[in-house]
Amino acid sequence: MGKPTRTGPEGRGTRPAAHELARYEALFATRTKGMKSSAMREMMALTERPDVISLAGGLPDTSTFPPERFAKLMSAVAAESTARALQYGPTEGMRVTVDAIVEVMAAEGTLVDPESVIVTTGGQQVIDLVCKTLIDPGDVIVAEAPTYPGAVPTFSAYQADVEQIDVDEEGMPIDELERTLDRLASEGRRPKFIYTIPNFQNPAGVTMSLPRRRRLVEVARERELLVLEDNPYGLLRYEGEALPTLYSLDAESLGRAGATDLVIYLGTFSKILSPGVRLGWAVAPRPVLEKLNLGKQGADLCSSPVTQMFVAAYFGERARDGRPAWEEYVESLRELYSHRKDVMLESLQEHFGDSARWTTPRGGLFVWATLDERIDTTDLLPLALKSDGVAFVPGRAAYMDGRRGSSSMRLNFAGVSEQDIREGIRRIGRGVRDQLGLLGSLTGSHPLPAPPQQAPQQAGGSDEPQQPLADVVKLPRREDSPQARRRGEK
Ligand SMILES: Cc1ncc(COP(=O)(O)O)c(C=O)c1O
Repeated sequence: MGKPTRTGPEGRGTRPAAHELARYEALFATRTKGMKSSAMREMMALTERPDVISLAGGLPDTSTFPPERFAKLMSAVAAESTARALQYGPTEGMRVTVDAIVEVMAAEGTLVDPESVIVTTGGQQVIDLVCKTLIDPGDVIVAEAPTYPGAVPTFSAYQADVEQIDVDEEGMPIDELERTLDRLASEGRRPKFIYTIPNFQNPAGVTMSLPRRRRLVEVARERELLVLEDNPYGLLRYEGEALPTLYSLDAESLGRAGATDLVIYLGTFSKILSPGVRLGWAVAPRPVLEKLNLGKQGADLCSSPVTQMFVAAYFGERARDGRPAWEEYVESLRELYSHRKDVMLESLQEHFGDSARWTTPRGGLFVWATLDERIDTTDLLPLALKSDGVAFVPGRAAYMDGRRGSSSMRLNFAGVSEQDIREGIRRIGRGVRDQLGLLGSLTGSHPLPAPPQQAPQQAGGSDEPQQPLADVVKLPRREDSPQARRRGEK
């Protein structure tokens, strides 16, 4: 098999070399051709390098969870429920965990029937199971642009044809959605589902307005379309009034609190408690739920009873005033993240200024910044890592064709200290200014004309490296990078 090759900007992990892959080529299923590594996954490795300030991950700040509380809850599970915790559990999840889910959803004003819930191994598994259940190769999914970078490889793996609709400050424009649906209908195509992240969207940080939510639900009903509502961040709102979920709007419109037949809801404990428990859930119409259950049986039989029992014990705790203790913890996260968000917006103003624009999220974990169109953030990332020790998610990761979003980046403000946010943004800002300066001097300081748009690549198509497809000027290396100095480059 030969020696594994070390690759990647972070210099971690091993990837097989081309000749090693070639040996297995004939064995791989066709769908693997469309499989791409999630940019986020690659970035996870970076967060472990101590010299790197990573604004790249989708991480909440788990250091805020009191260690003694974690120890107490885990030892209670170990001491009181050993046999159950160490046993397999039901595929649909343990009743105690489902009760916690019903409580979390009620806190967001959404009533659900516990019988419509399936506990999953993270919200990510819901995306996978929904695709497994609904998508044949070539089937259409309508999603936002940009969309959750972790959904991109899943959609690719199931060989979906994804139509992405540009979001604005109010989320997905529904008139644009309707035009897309009309066009698809004229081609005899009907999406299997519409995928949306209505609250504090990952990666753009924008939130779908109430009128659009209402209209989306109406459109789904008029056209009998399923909606996958992905809502990890709804409880992490820092300003403004909470908005109803699509699930609850549709249930209300039917006059049936707690049941819709068109919305599949995705929730997770990752951002309000811990991604390490790897627990999420779906609430789905019963026939869909049945298929999700079958899909999950084939995937992992059940989600970990150990962490399900931990979550149940955690949600059972009451604060001194009798309020659920988990609500207090979420409140503390809101305060912390809200402050960090302000720090990031201030730092962007200070270090990016007029050379970029960015979204102003009212919750969640992310800001989406768009730089001068001559900068390709996919090219900028390795430079930022090597020269400046700072990481972000390049915008292309949020687009199926990997071509759009080239001058954008996703920045996480929640999992990083205030000091690191300031320093990280300062470093990126300096790197961007250097690049713009170099580009200016290379081109006689005349601004470059906007590059022509290239035709979009087929979704789920080529797995070619994206570099040659860059539709912007190649970035020169920073003159003062240690690598450049070592090589004696100017
Ligand atoms: C929009 C969205 N959906 C789903 C997930 C998956 O979350 P998990 O699998 O940790 O529950 C994430 C994680 O960042 C997300 O941002």
